[in-house]
This record gives sequence, structure tokens and C-alpha cells, in this order.
Amino acid sequence: MLGFDPKIFVQDAIEKIKTDVKGKVILAWSGGVDSTTVAALVNKAVGSRLLCVFVDTGFMRKNETEQMQELGKELKLNMKIVDAKEKFLSALKGVRDPEEKRKICGELFIKIFEKVAEDFGAEYLAQGTIAPDWIESGGGIRNRIKAHHNVGGLPEKMGLKLVEPLRDLYKDEVRNVGKALNIPKKIYTKQPFPGPGLAIRIVGEVTEEKVDIIREASFILEKEIEAAAEKGKIEIPWQYFAVLLPTKSVGVHGDVRAYGYTIVIRAVDSIDGMSAAYSKISHEILQKISTRITNVLKDKVTRVVYDITNKPPATIEFE
Ligand code: XMP
Repeated sequence: MLGFDPKIFVQDAIEKIKTDVKGKVILAWSGGVDSTTVAALVNKAVGSRLLCVFVDTGFMRKNETEQMQELGKELKLNMKIVDAKEKFLSALKGVRDPEEKRKICGELFIKIFEKVAEDFGAEYLAQGTIAPDWIESGGGIRNRIKAHHNVGGLPEKMGLKLVEPLRDLYKDEVRNVGKALNIPKKIYTKQPFPGPGLAIRIVGEVTEEKVDIIREASFILEKEIEAAAEKGKIEIPWQYFAVLLPTKSVGVHGDVRAYGYTIVIRAVDSIDGMSAAYSKISHEILQKISTRITNVLKDKVTRVVYDITNKPPATIEFE
């Protein structure tokens, strides 16, 4: 948006929410930049009439649920954590198709939010939807590329009115709004993380074993990249994560054969996620990530590869 002023945006958005929203609100809170910015905005407008709901799908990154608890306290939010790990894992059993995974996760989210909304007596649902979400989900301008889960029919099915204050903004604008709202820097600079989480970073069927592998590999990758950035060796990429391929290949430890999965390192530079260039990470850093992943996940991961595809023609995520 030309001449976008985050402070003015915040004032206007709070006024608008105060005028439009009279009852209780639940927020689908993932802890990312978008939904945390919405949490802070709506909290300023309606206070304890807002309940921030974080669903632990089991597809979250390492220590994420604990970090959400801390963040909720820090931002003084009225919050609820729903443990839905088993529900999500069993619902995805045998499912391989990416859009099917999104549909199943989306439906489960609806069920959970429906129950929480009923218990809390909410009339409104707040969401961190931003412009690329509805544009890439087939918002009329382009072909539907992926059904980013926080766009699909949640409110119609739930009979809740929608509060989407960031709907017309792009990621970089949302970060500035988050900063203007004084949310912690680690949040407004946080990289995006998809709603279905690690489930769409496991290509093909999701199993508990694969979730454990990808969670550890992602953790190592994030730490190594962040450490390299802190030492000034690289600019932190816009998004950086691990993907697990179902392809198994032969490895060797000493003189013992191993047969494990393949991990892809994906790191991209972008402004809004609509297009992206793969990050030119040095071989030294890539090597470190590869060695640590194959040491820690010995026997489970025998190969690590680096994705050098831009968007387009690829998308950022594999699914
Ligand atoms: P793609 O893979 O479409 O990703 O190039 C663009 C941005 O969107 C994120 N993404 C998602 N976010 N639910 C979300 O909330 C989803 O299903 C989803 N799929 C992709 C992706 O991480 C990237 O930042």
C-alpha cells in the first residue's frame, strides 16, 4: 500500500473494531506475526471479551506450545490452549494428497473452534488473514494455487461473524503494524509457518515417526541458520525450514548400512511470499546443517539436499 502508516492503521483498526464488534470474540491464534498482531489489536479494542485460542495440532515446532504460553502472559491475553495432537494425527492417517491434508486440518480446526466459541459464548471469529492468503486461495484474481487453511469457509459454517483487520495488508506491512503495537521483536520478525504446520512439510503420508524426524531436523536447521546470521555470516532468509521426502536412500555409518529418509533444506528470500528466490547460503553453513541433521538423526536420515528452485516455478512449501 502506497504511503502506508502503521500507527494510523492501528488507530483506525481499533476504532473500527470498537464500533463493529459488540459481543465476544474468539481468535484463531497460531502465534505467528499475523494472528499475534490481530490478538494485540483486538485485545486493545475489546479486552477480556477476546479469547485467543491456540490449537496444539501436534504438528508444531519444538517447544512451540510452551512459547505460546509465555507469549500469552507477556501480551496479557485471555488465552486457551487446546491439545488436539491425537485428533489431528489420526485424522491424517493414510492421507497423501496435500489439499486433502489442508481440508482435513481445516475441518478439524472448525470443529474445535465451534466448541470453544459455544463454551465462551462468542459471536465473532477473528483471524489473521492477510492479502496473499485469499489471493493465492483463489480470491478471484488468480488461479487457486493452495487452499491456505485460514481462508476456507470457517465463518459461514460456524455462524460467526468475521473480524479480519489485516485482510488487505501484505506481510511486510503486518510486521510494521506488529511493531507499532509493541509486540515482541521475535514475533514481528518471525518467519511464516503454515496452519497445518509440519504436516505439509512431510511429503505424502504423515506418521508420528516422520513428525518427530521433521521437528528435530527443522529445529537444527533453524538454530544453525540463526547462529550463522548472528555471526554476520548470512542475512536471515525470509523463510527457512526442513522438508521430509518419503524417498529413502542408502547410507553408511562406519561399515554399517543405513536406509533413511531424505531431508530438504528450503530457504528463500521474499517480500510477501508471492514470489521468492532461493537463498544463496554458503556451502560451509549447508554442510554444518547437513552434518548435524545426519548425526542427530542417525539411521533415520541418510541424505540432506538443498532446494535451489525459485517461486515461480516452485512454491515455497513442497505441498
Ligand atoms: P507457498 O507454498 O504457497 O507459500 O509458496 C506461500 C506462503 O504461505 C505459507 N503457506 C501457508 N500458510 N496455511 C497457511 O497458513 C497453509 O496451508 C499454507 N501453505 C503455505 C507458506 O509457508 C509461505 O509463507
